[in-house]
Amino acid sequence: MNILVTGGAGFIGSNFIRLLLEGSDDVVVNFDLLTYAGNLGNLAGCEDDPRYRFIRGDVRDRSQVRAALTGHRIEAVVHFAAESHVDRSVEGPEVFVTTNVLGTEILLEESRAAGVGRFVMVSTDEVYGSLGPEGAFTESTPLAPNSPYSASKAAADLLCRAFFKTFDFPVLITRCSNNYGPYQFPEKLIPLMIANALEDKPLPVYGDGQNVRDWLHVRDHCRAVDLVLRRGTPGGIYNIGGCNELKNLDLVRLLVDRLGKSRDLITFVSDRPGHDRRYAIDAGKIMAELGWAPTVTFAEGLSGTIEWYLANGAWLEQVRSGLYTAYYERLYGAGGRYGREEDRA
Ligand code: NAD
Ligand code: TYD
Repeated sequence: MNILVTGGAGFIGSNFIRLLLEGSDDVVVNFDLLTYAGNLGNLAGCEDDPRYRFIRGDVRDRSQVRAALTGHRIEAVVHFAAESHVDRSVEGPEVFVTTNVLGTEILLEESRAAGVGRFVMVSTDEVYGSLGPEGAFTESTPLAPNSPYSASKAAADLLCRAFFKTFDFPVLITRCSNNYGPYQFPEKLIPLMIANALEDKPLPVYGDGQNVRDWLHVRDHCRAVDLVLRRGTPGGIYNIGGCNELKNLDLVRLLVDRLGKSRDLITFVSDRPGHDRRYAIDAGKIMAELGWAPTVTFAEGLSGTIEWYLANGAWLEQVRSGLYTAYYERLYGAGGRYGREEDRA
Protein backbone atom coordinates (compact mmCIF):
# COMPACT_ATOMS: atom_id res chain seq x y z
CA MET A 1 0.00 0.00 0.00
CA ASN A 2 1.01 3.61 -0.51
CA ILE A 3 0.27 5.26 2.84
CA LEU A 4 0.22 8.99 3.59
CA VAL A 5 1.04 9.62 7.25
CA THR A 6 0.29 13.19 8.31
CA GLY A 7 2.19 14.54 11.31
CA GLY A 8 4.82 11.82 10.86
CA ALA A 9 7.57 14.00 12.32
CA GLY A 10 5.80 14.29 15.68
CA PHE A 11 5.93 11.96 18.66
CA ILE A 12 3.37 9.28 17.75
CA GLY A 13 3.62 9.73 13.97
CA SER A 14 7.38 9.07 13.95
CA ASN A 15 6.96 5.97 16.11
CA PHE A 16 4.22 4.82 13.71
CA ILE A 17 6.43 5.33 10.65
CA ARG A 18 9.20 3.32 12.28
CA LEU A 19 6.69 0.52 12.93
CA LEU A 20 5.53 0.56 9.29
CA LEU A 21 9.06 0.52 7.89
CA GLU A 22 10.08 -2.32 10.21
CA GLY A 23 7.01 -4.49 9.90
CA SER A 24 5.48 -4.03 6.43
CA ASP A 25 6.43 -3.52 2.81
CA ASP A 26 4.30 -0.39 2.42
CA VAL A 27 5.48 2.86 0.84
CA VAL A 28 5.25 5.60 3.47
CA VAL A 29 4.86 9.28 2.62
CA ASN A 30 5.33 11.53 5.64
CA PHE A 31 3.41 14.81 5.20
CA ASP A 32 4.34 17.24 7.98
CA LEU A 33 4.58 21.01 8.37
CA LEU A 34 7.43 20.75 10.89
CA THR A 35 5.90 23.04 13.50
CA TYR A 36 7.70 23.37 16.86
CA ALA A 37 6.53 19.79 17.57
CA GLY A 38 7.73 18.28 14.30
CA ASN A 39 11.31 17.13 14.14
CA LEU A 40 12.95 15.12 11.37
CA GLY A 41 15.47 14.00 13.98
CA ASN A 42 12.67 11.72 15.23
CA LEU A 43 13.09 9.75 12.01
CA ALA A 44 16.88 9.54 11.97
CA GLY A 45 17.85 6.42 10.04
CA CYS A 46 14.56 6.22 8.08
CA GLU A 47 15.67 8.67 5.34
CA ASP A 48 17.74 5.99 3.64
CA ASP A 49 14.83 3.57 3.31
CA PRO A 50 13.71 3.60 -0.36
CA ARG A 51 10.10 3.13 0.79
CA TYR A 52 10.14 6.39 2.78
CA ARG A 53 9.48 9.91 1.44
CA PHE A 54 9.11 13.21 3.25
CA ILE A 55 6.99 16.15 2.10
CA ARG A 56 6.97 19.38 4.04
CA GLY A 57 3.35 20.41 3.77
CA ASP A 58 0.43 21.93 5.63
CA VAL A 59 -2.86 20.03 5.97
CA ARG A 60 -4.61 23.42 5.67
CA ASP A 61 -3.15 23.91 2.17
CA ARG A 62 -5.47 22.20 -0.29
CA SER A 63 -3.08 22.24 -3.24
CA GLN A 64 -0.23 20.74 -1.20
CA VAL A 65 -2.53 18.03 0.13
CA ARG A 66 -3.86 17.25 -3.36
CA ALA A 67 -0.37 17.07 -4.86
CA ALA A 68 0.80 14.69 -2.14
CA LEU A 69 -2.22 12.40 -2.53
CA THR A 70 -2.23 12.22 -6.30
CA GLY A 71 1.53 12.50 -6.86
CA HIS A 72 2.17 9.41 -4.74
CA ARG A 73 -0.98 7.47 -5.67
CA ILE A 74 -1.99 7.27 -2.03
CA GLU A 75 -4.29 4.38 -1.08
CA ALA A 76 -4.54 4.96 2.67
CA VAL A 77 -4.20 7.96 4.98
CA VAL A 78 -3.30 7.88 8.66
CA HIS A 79 -3.98 11.33 10.08
CA PHE A 80 -1.87 12.27 13.11
CA ALA A 81 -1.13 15.92 12.23
CA ALA A 82 -2.54 18.24 14.87
CA GLU A 83 -1.81 20.84 17.43
CA SER A 84 -1.71 18.48 20.38
CA HIS A 85 -1.00 20.28 23.64
CA VAL A 86 -3.87 21.33 25.95
CA ASP A 87 -1.90 24.14 27.65
CA ARG A 88 -1.07 25.72 24.29
CA SER A 89 -4.77 25.56 23.37
CA VAL A 90 -5.56 27.55 26.51
CA GLU A 91 -2.99 30.17 25.51
CA GLY A 92 -4.11 30.39 21.86
CA PRO A 93 -7.05 28.34 20.56
CA GLU A 94 -7.15 29.62 16.97
CA VAL A 95 -4.42 27.46 15.46
CA PHE A 96 -6.15 24.42 17.01
CA VAL A 97 -9.25 25.23 14.96
CA THR A 98 -7.39 25.89 11.72
CA THR A 99 -5.08 22.87 11.92
CA ASN A 100 -7.24 20.32 13.70
CA VAL A 101 -10.66 21.16 12.25
CA LEU A 102 -10.09 22.85 8.89
CA GLY A 103 -6.99 20.75 8.17
CA THR A 104 -8.94 17.54 8.77
CA GLU A 105 -11.82 18.72 6.59
CA ILE A 106 -9.46 19.52 3.70
CA LEU A 107 -7.69 16.20 4.09
CA LEU A 108 -11.02 14.35 4.08
CA GLU A 109 -12.31 16.12 0.97
CA GLU A 110 -9.09 15.69 -0.97
CA SER A 111 -8.68 12.07 0.12
CA ARG A 112 -12.19 11.30 -1.04
CA ALA A 113 -11.57 13.02 -4.38
CA ALA A 114 -8.33 11.06 -4.78
CA GLY A 115 -10.11 7.73 -4.19
CA VAL A 116 -8.32 6.88 -0.94
CA GLY A 117 -9.56 3.47 0.28
CA ARG A 118 -8.86 3.74 4.05
CA PHE A 119 -8.68 6.89 6.18
CA VAL A 120 -7.66 6.53 9.83
CA MET A 121 -8.43 9.54 12.02
CA VAL A 122 -6.23 9.53 15.11
CA SER A 123 -8.60 11.13 17.58
CA THR A 124 -8.26 11.09 21.38
CA ASP A 125 -10.05 9.98 24.54
CA GLU A 126 -10.15 13.66 25.54
CA VAL A 127 -13.18 14.14 23.25
CA TYR A 128 -15.25 12.37 25.94
CA GLY A 129 -14.46 14.99 28.58
CA SER A 130 -13.88 14.11 32.22
CA LEU A 131 -14.89 11.09 34.34
CA GLY A 132 -15.83 10.84 38.00
CA PRO A 133 -14.06 8.32 40.23
CA GLU A 134 -15.81 5.29 38.65
CA GLY A 135 -16.32 3.93 35.16
CA ALA A 136 -14.55 4.19 31.82
CA PHE A 137 -15.19 5.73 28.39
CA THR A 138 -16.77 3.40 25.83
CA GLU A 139 -17.18 4.19 22.14
CA SER A 140 -20.77 5.26 22.82
CA THR A 141 -19.97 7.69 25.66
CA PRO A 142 -21.29 11.11 24.54
CA LEU A 143 -18.63 13.59 23.45
CA ALA A 144 -18.19 16.44 25.96
CA PRO A 145 -14.80 18.08 25.34
CA ASN A 146 -13.60 20.66 27.87
CA SER A 147 -10.49 22.28 26.37
CA PRO A 148 -10.05 24.10 23.06
CA TYR A 149 -7.71 21.21 22.10
CA SER A 150 -10.26 18.48 22.82
CA ALA A 151 -13.10 20.53 21.28
CA SER A 152 -11.10 20.88 18.05
CA LYS A 153 -10.34 17.14 18.04
CA ALA A 154 -14.02 16.36 18.67
CA ALA A 155 -14.99 18.56 15.71
CA ALA A 156 -12.50 16.73 13.49
CA ASP A 157 -13.67 13.35 14.81
CA LEU A 158 -17.31 14.25 14.03
CA LEU A 159 -16.40 15.47 10.54
CA CYS A 160 -14.92 12.03 9.92
CA ARG A 161 -18.15 10.42 11.10
CA ALA A 162 -20.09 12.74 8.76
CA PHE A 163 -17.92 11.80 5.76
CA PHE A 164 -18.69 8.15 6.43
CA LYS A 165 -22.43 8.70 6.91
CA THR A 166 -22.88 11.20 4.07
CA PHE A 167 -20.42 10.01 1.45
CA ASP A 168 -19.74 6.42 2.52
CA PHE A 169 -16.09 7.45 2.70
CA PRO A 170 -14.18 4.64 4.51
CA VAL A 171 -13.12 6.45 7.66
CA LEU A 172 -11.93 4.68 10.82
CA ILE A 173 -11.59 6.57 14.09
CA THR A 174 -9.28 5.76 17.00
CA ARG A 175 -9.58 7.37 20.44
CA CYS A 176 -6.53 6.65 22.56
CA SER A 177 -5.51 7.54 26.10
CA ASN A 178 -2.28 9.32 27.12
CA ASN A 179 0.82 8.02 25.35
CA TYR A 180 4.39 7.98 26.62
CA GLY A 181 7.69 6.76 25.17
CA PRO A 182 10.64 7.91 23.08
CA TYR A 183 10.52 11.14 21.02
CA GLN A 184 7.74 12.78 23.06
CA PHE A 185 8.13 16.54 23.09
CA PRO A 186 9.06 17.72 26.60
CA GLU A 187 6.00 19.90 27.09
CA LYS A 188 3.91 16.82 28.00
CA LEU A 189 3.95 15.52 31.57
CA ILE A 190 6.40 12.59 31.50
CA PRO A 191 9.20 14.05 29.34
CA LEU A 192 8.82 17.49 30.94
CA MET A 193 9.31 16.00 34.40
CA ILE A 194 12.27 13.88 33.27
CA ALA A 195 13.95 16.85 31.57
CA ASN A 196 13.39 19.19 34.51
CA ALA A 197 14.46 16.61 37.10
CA LEU A 198 17.69 15.95 35.21
CA GLU A 199 18.50 19.65 35.59
CA ASP A 200 17.23 19.80 39.20
CA LYS A 201 14.53 22.26 38.11
CA PRO A 202 11.11 22.50 39.81
CA LEU A 203 8.54 19.88 38.75
CA PRO A 204 5.26 21.81 38.32
CA VAL A 205 2.27 19.69 39.38
CA TYR A 206 -1.06 21.33 38.52
CA GLY A 207 -3.65 21.74 41.26
CA ASP A 208 -3.69 18.95 43.86
CA GLY A 209 -1.97 16.41 41.58
CA GLN A 210 -4.88 13.99 41.99
CA ASN A 211 -5.96 14.08 38.32
CA VAL A 212 -5.87 10.62 36.79
CA ARG A 213 -4.58 9.62 33.35
CA ASP A 214 -4.51 6.18 31.71
CA TRP A 215 -0.99 5.69 30.30
CA LEU A 216 -0.19 3.58 27.23
CA HIS A 217 3.22 3.02 25.64
CA VAL A 218 3.39 4.66 22.21
CA ARG A 219 4.43 1.41 20.56
CA ASP A 220 1.19 -0.26 21.69
CA HIS A 221 -0.83 2.69 20.40
CA CYS A 222 0.93 2.43 17.03
CA ARG A 223 0.24 -1.31 16.84
CA ALA A 224 -3.42 -0.57 17.48
CA VAL A 225 -3.57 2.10 14.76
CA ASP A 226 -1.90 -0.31 12.35
CA LEU A 227 -4.50 -3.00 13.12
CA VAL A 228 -7.36 -0.55 12.64
CA LEU A 229 -5.82 0.60 9.34
CA ARG A 230 -5.65 -2.95 7.98
CA ARG A 231 -8.56 -4.76 9.61
CA GLY A 232 -10.91 -2.22 11.17
CA THR A 233 -14.51 -1.91 9.97
CA PRO A 234 -15.09 1.29 7.95
CA GLY A 235 -17.12 3.78 9.96
CA GLY A 236 -15.90 2.08 13.15
CA ILE A 237 -14.68 3.85 16.26
CA TYR A 238 -12.01 2.13 18.37
CA ASN A 239 -11.05 3.11 21.91
CA ILE A 240 -7.43 2.32 22.79
CA GLY A 241 -6.10 2.39 26.34
CA GLY A 242 -3.58 0.91 28.70
CA CYS A 243 -5.79 -0.10 31.65
CA ASN A 244 -3.13 1.73 33.57
CA GLU A 245 -4.53 4.59 35.63
CA LEU A 246 -2.24 6.77 37.69
CA LYS A 247 -2.63 9.99 39.63
CA ASN A 248 -0.29 12.68 38.35
CA LEU A 249 1.39 13.15 41.72
CA ASP A 250 2.08 9.42 42.08
CA LEU A 251 3.54 9.34 38.59
CA VAL A 252 5.80 12.33 39.23
CA ARG A 253 6.99 10.81 42.51
CA LEU A 254 7.77 7.56 40.67
CA LEU A 255 9.82 9.44 38.08
CA VAL A 256 11.74 11.41 40.69
CA ASP A 257 12.53 8.25 42.65
CA ARG A 258 13.64 6.35 39.53
CA LEU A 259 15.92 9.25 38.58
CA GLY A 260 17.39 9.33 42.08
CA LYS A 261 16.33 12.96 42.59
CA SER A 262 14.77 14.71 45.56
CA ARG A 263 10.99 14.83 45.94
CA ASP A 264 11.53 18.42 47.10
CA LEU A 265 11.69 19.34 43.41
CA ILE A 266 7.91 18.74 43.21
CA THR A 267 6.16 22.11 43.19
CA PHE A 268 2.39 22.58 43.28
CA VAL A 269 1.28 25.31 40.88
CA SER A 270 -2.07 26.81 39.83
CA ASP A 271 -4.44 24.33 38.25
CA ARG A 272 -4.95 24.17 34.49
CA PRO A 273 -8.24 25.93 33.58
CA GLY A 274 -10.90 23.35 32.70
CA HIS A 275 -8.56 20.56 33.86
CA ASP A 276 -10.17 17.15 33.22
CA ARG A 277 -10.16 15.13 36.44
CA ARG A 278 -9.96 11.59 35.20
CA TYR A 279 -9.66 9.62 31.97
CA ALA A 280 -10.10 5.84 31.73
CA ILE A 281 -10.66 3.78 28.62
CA ASP A 282 -12.69 0.66 28.03
CA ALA A 283 -10.73 -0.93 25.17
CA GLY A 284 -12.90 -4.05 25.06
CA LYS A 285 -14.04 -3.48 21.47
CA ILE A 286 -10.59 -3.40 19.82
CA MET A 287 -9.49 -6.32 21.99
CA ALA A 288 -12.48 -8.47 20.99
CA GLU A 289 -12.78 -7.39 17.35
CA LEU A 290 -9.12 -7.04 16.32
CA GLY A 291 -7.32 -9.05 18.99
CA TRP A 292 -5.29 -6.08 20.21
CA ALA A 293 -3.84 -5.95 23.73
CA PRO A 294 -1.10 -3.83 25.27
CA THR A 295 2.25 -5.62 25.32
CA VAL A 296 4.51 -3.18 27.16
CA THR A 297 4.00 -3.15 30.93
CA PHE A 298 4.13 0.26 32.55
CA ALA A 299 7.19 -0.73 34.61
CA GLU A 300 9.15 -1.77 31.49
CA GLY A 301 7.84 1.11 29.40
CA LEU A 302 8.68 3.76 31.96
CA SER A 303 12.19 2.40 32.56
CA GLY A 304 12.81 2.24 28.81
CA THR A 305 11.53 5.79 28.38
CA ILE A 306 13.74 7.16 31.17
CA GLU A 307 16.73 5.34 29.66
CA TRP A 308 15.90 6.75 26.24
CA TYR A 309 15.85 10.34 27.52
CA LEU A 310 19.09 9.76 29.44
CA ALA A 311 20.75 8.38 26.31
CA ASN A 312 19.42 11.12 24.03
CA GLY A 313 20.56 14.30 25.74
CA ALA A 314 21.43 15.92 22.41
CA TRP A 315 17.87 15.36 21.10
CA LEU A 316 16.44 16.83 24.30
CA GLU A 317 18.72 19.85 24.15
CA GLN A 318 17.86 20.49 20.52
CA VAL A 319 14.07 20.42 21.05
CA ARG A 320 14.29 22.42 24.26
CA SER A 321 16.15 25.26 22.58
CA GLY A 322 14.70 28.20 20.69
CA LEU A 323 10.96 28.67 20.59
CA TYR A 324 10.31 26.09 23.28
CA THR A 325 12.39 28.04 25.77
CA ALA A 326 10.28 31.16 25.19
CA TYR A 327 7.05 29.14 25.60
CA TYR A 328 8.29 27.54 28.80
CA GLU A 329 9.27 30.89 30.31
CA ARG A 330 5.90 32.40 29.36
CA LEU A 331 3.95 29.65 31.16
CA TYR A 332 6.21 28.43 33.94
CA GLY A 333 8.39 31.51 34.60
CA ALA A 334 7.75 34.21 37.20
CA GLY A 335 4.28 35.68 36.57
CA GLY A 336 3.32 32.90 34.16
CA ARG A 337 0.14 30.80 34.47
CA TYR A 338 2.06 27.97 36.16
CA GLY A 339 4.73 30.14 37.81
CA ARG A 340 5.38 29.39 41.46
CA GLU A 341 3.18 31.26 43.92
CA GLU A 342 6.20 32.83 45.64
CA ASP A 343 7.54 34.15 42.32
CA ARG A 344 4.18 35.70 41.54
CA ALA A 345 3.96 37.75 44.75
P1 NAD B 1 2.87 16.04 18.27
O1 NAD B 1 2.49 17.43 18.68
O2 NAD B 1 4.09 15.42 18.83
O3 NAD B 1 3.00 15.98 16.68
C1 NAD B 1 2.13 16.64 15.82
C2 NAD B 1 2.78 16.68 14.44
O4 NAD B 1 1.85 17.32 13.53
C3 NAD B 1 4.09 17.48 14.38
O5 NAD B 1 5.06 16.74 13.67
C4 NAD B 1 3.70 18.74 13.63
O6 NAD B 1 4.78 19.30 12.88
C5 NAD B 1 2.59 18.24 12.73
N1 NAD B 1 1.67 19.32 12.31
C6 NAD B 1 1.11 20.27 13.10
N2 NAD B 1 0.37 21.11 12.36
C7 NAD B 1 0.44 20.66 11.07
C8 NAD B 1 -0.14 21.09 9.84
N3 NAD B 1 -0.92 22.18 9.79
N4 NAD B 1 0.12 20.39 8.72
C9 NAD B 1 0.93 19.29 8.76
N5 NAD B 1 1.53 18.85 9.89
C10 NAD B 1 1.27 19.52 11.03
O7 NAD B 1 1.58 15.17 18.59
P2 NAD B 1 1.47 13.65 19.07
O8 NAD B 1 1.52 13.60 20.54
O9 NAD B 1 2.40 12.82 18.26
O10 NAD B 1 -0.03 13.32 18.65
C11 NAD B 1 -0.33 12.89 17.33
C12 NAD B 1 -1.83 12.72 17.18
O11 NAD B 1 -2.31 11.80 18.16
C13 NAD B 1 -2.61 14.02 17.41
O12 NAD B 1 -3.65 14.07 16.47
C14 NAD B 1 -3.16 13.87 18.83
O13 NAD B 1 -4.37 14.57 18.97
C15 NAD B 1 -3.37 12.37 18.90
N6 NAD B 1 -3.28 11.78 20.25
C16 NAD B 1 -2.20 12.03 21.05
C17 NAD B 1 -2.12 11.44 22.30
C18 NAD B 1 -0.92 11.68 23.19
O14 NAD B 1 -0.90 11.22 24.33
N7 NAD B 1 0.14 12.36 22.73
C19 NAD B 1 -3.14 10.58 22.74
C20 NAD B 1 -4.24 10.35 21.89
C21 NAD B 1 -4.29 10.94 20.65
P1 TYD C 1 -0.34 16.33 29.48
O1 TYD C 1 0.90 15.52 29.31
O2 TYD C 1 -0.34 17.76 29.05
O3 TYD C 1 -1.51 15.50 28.78
P2 TYD C 1 -3.12 15.74 28.79
O4 TYD C 1 -3.43 17.08 29.32
O5 TYD C 1 -3.42 15.64 27.33
O6 TYD C 1 -3.68 14.63 29.60
O7 TYD C 1 -0.75 16.30 31.02
C1 TYD C 1 -0.98 15.07 31.70
C2 TYD C 1 -1.48 15.42 33.09
O8 TYD C 1 -0.43 16.06 33.81
C3 TYD C 1 -2.64 16.41 33.08
O9 TYD C 1 -3.53 16.07 34.15
C4 TYD C 1 -1.98 17.75 33.38
C5 TYD C 1 -0.80 17.36 34.25
N1 TYD C 1 0.40 18.23 34.12
C6 TYD C 1 0.99 18.77 35.27
O10 TYD C 1 0.53 18.55 36.40
N2 TYD C 1 2.11 19.56 35.12
C7 TYD C 1 2.67 19.84 33.88
O11 TYD C 1 3.66 20.60 33.81
C8 TYD C 1 2.04 19.27 32.72
C9 TYD C 1 2.60 19.53 31.35
C10 TYD C 1 0.92 18.45 32.90
